[in-house]
Amino acid sequence: MVNKDDVVNAYRYILGREPESDDVVMTHMSAASLEELRIRFLDSQEFSQKYSRSGAVDIEGFMLPQDMPPLSVDIEADPQQMQALLDRIKREWEEFGEKDPHWSVLTHASYKKKFISENKSGFFESGRFVANIVRAFSDRNGVPVENYRSCFELGCGVGRITLHLSQIFESVIGADISKFHLDVCREELRQNGVKNVSLNCITDVRQLMELPRFDFFVSMIVLQHNPPPVIKFILECILDKLNPGGAAVFQVPTYRRSYRFDLSEYIGCPSPLHMEMHVLPQSEIFSILNNSRCDLVEVREDGWADGRTPNSLSNTFFVIKK
Ligand SMILES: C[S@@+](CC[C@H](N)C(=O)[O-])C[C@H]1O[C@@H](n2cnc3c(N)ncnc32)[C@H](O)[C@@H]1O
Repeated sequence: MVNKDDVVNAYRYILGREPESDDVVMTHMSAASLEELRIRFLDSQEFSQKYSRSGAVDIEGFMLPQDMPPLSVDIEADPQQMQALLDRIKREWEEFGEKDPHWSVLTHASYKKKFISENKSGFFESGRFVANIVRAFSDRNGVPVENYRSCFELGCGVGRITLHLSQIFESVIGADISKFHLDVCREELRQNGVKNVSLNCITDVRQLMELPRFDFFVSMIVLQHNPPPVIKFILECILDKLNPGGAAVFQVPTYRRSYRFDLSEYIGCPSPLHMEMHVLPQSEIFSILNNSRCDLVEVREDGWADGRTPNSLSNTFFVIKK
């Protein structure tokens, strides 16, 4: 039997609105079972117009269409410009790191400085998800993480993911552009008794070119905060240091409606410091992989940048060095 609350809840949960009258509620109370009630709502014209095509949820509505135009994106910068770009990103992130390090990593109100002590365990637990992805990509492609010893994590922040990577790999280098994030990370590692992570504060272009070699590279929600020439440069430097047979899991937004990047404009008329969100088109990433002797093994759409929306595309790449 279906009661009045069942019908009102079906309106709220399925159609996203209140019933227009008691009469319509009474009509639906005639449904023989909850199952029949559910099917009536899912089959309704209103539901298909709002959310679906032919009764199935319209997943296309959450995806970037395939007929999008090209983006205009400058991807080259000379060494001086590159350093200027890095300096700006450093200023931005050190400001965040000093004011609100955990919130700057995951911008949820519960991770603001005044609430973080009560929510810290959930914050750090959320990094396990990335460690699980790293394992899953590797297992699916016949290169289990146990094959690898050393890991380089770019943009380790306060160590949310690093803590979990330290349980997978024999040694981890966590690098970040913000010394304030690294201070929090160091303390977190100490409190957790983690001894196999070393931290590296990125300050200049040369440092990126002189990284040590490693077996595995991980970077999540980091490259997106860097202008496209920096993303390209960083990926080239890092993939160059990946050992033969080594693997990498990293995320980069690859399309956003109306995004453009003009280097001289960006350097010439800088906007106030803020959490920048950038894009490097997929074709550029594929060509970097090609030039770095890396095979693209999987590329997955993800929701890291803006969630899954029809306006943008973010990808997680899994690659193996030849
Ligand atoms: C949104 S947080 C993510 C931190 C960490 N990956 C996580 O998911 O917990 C971005 C981090 O990347 C760092 N970052 C941004 N650009 C960087 C760069 N070019 N090199 C190194 N670190 C960078 C920031 O300082 C910040 O700690």
